[in-house]
Amino acid sequence: MTLALFTADTSASVKVAAHLACADNLDFMRGLPTGGMKLIVTSPPYNIGKTYERRSSLDAYLRQQEVVINACVGLLHERGSICWQVGNHIARNGEVVPLDILLYPIFKQAGLILRNRIVWHFEHGLHCEKRFSGRYETILWFTRGESYDFYLDAVRVPSKYPGKKHFKGPKAGQLSGNPLGKNPGDMWVIPNVKANHVEKTEHPCQFPVELVERLVLALTAPGDAVFDPYMGVGSTAIAAVKHGRVAYGCDIVPRYVEIARDRIAQYEAGILRTRPMDRAVYDPRLPYGGH
Ligand SMILES: C[S@@+](CC[C@H](N)C(=O)[O-])C[C@H]1O[C@@H](n2cnc3c(N)ncnc32)[C@H](O)[C@@H]1O
Repeated sequence: MTLALFTADTSASVKVAAHLACADNLDFMRGLPTGGMKLIVTSPPYNIGKTYERRSSLDAYLRQQEVVINACVGLLHERGSICWQVGNHIARNGEVVPLDILLYPIFKQAGLILRNRIVWHFEHGLHCEKRFSGRYETILWFTRGESYDFYLDAVRVPSKYPGKKHFKGPKAGQLSGNPLGKNPGDMWVIPNVKANHVEKTEHPCQFPVELVERLVLALTAPGDAVFDPYMGVGSTAIAAVKHGRVAYGCDIVPRYVEIARDRIAQYEAGILRTRPMDRAVYDPRLPYGGH
């Protein structure tokens, strides 16, 4: 197994720690300490015949997911979280099979506790002819136990009415909302990575770095370990190192690992472009609406 540790400590760059490997995730996980990961966040293959996956029966796919999920649970810190980001498997006859519904019992069986089923809404994707076009996927956020890290203030978003005050009662004249902003809720509107997105690489289905940043900031503290067992081109690793966390990740496709390492190196050099978390979803003044 290849383990590459990228560190830099020059005045021109940022000090980061990213352990990225070209490896099968079960092999890679055998080399990681149990209970060490504060956050495991990933988007596994959906078994829909993408270039990096061999389409198998749904049962075989779920059995394989169960093995990987159970291995991940063994790595999880007692106050840690797992976020599994999935969409739909589309059967050969066109039937839509929502993967989160099928995967939920595996996490439940492993003793994890569901905290949110986050709906990630985006505007771009396939235009369907025989059903409504799919414009959301989900993130199942589970914790290992009853006590878990959650830093809401780190991910608050601007309130709709920032200066609004109570106008009667014992709190009259006081701000009615939190001055730090509001809870972002469980429906996240974030552009997906299509052709014009600044983060687009040759990977066919990256998730946006800003999506993972919100999870990293809400569920970990600086110095914590964040792992992605299906890391692709390293979007999770970038979100982690951007915020001073230690990134771990693996992928079986050498080219994706190469791109992930290159993106980390670009981040260290201060030249990696990612879409900022606070940018409006569509800004007509910016090229391509700010995507
Ligand atoms: C949906 S993509 C993840 C993309 C990633 N979130 C990103 O932003 O780049 C799933 C990835 O899992 C990888 N993969 C599939 N089977 C794997 C395995 N057994 N071990 C490690 N990676 C695997 C694929 O090569 C693919 O890049």
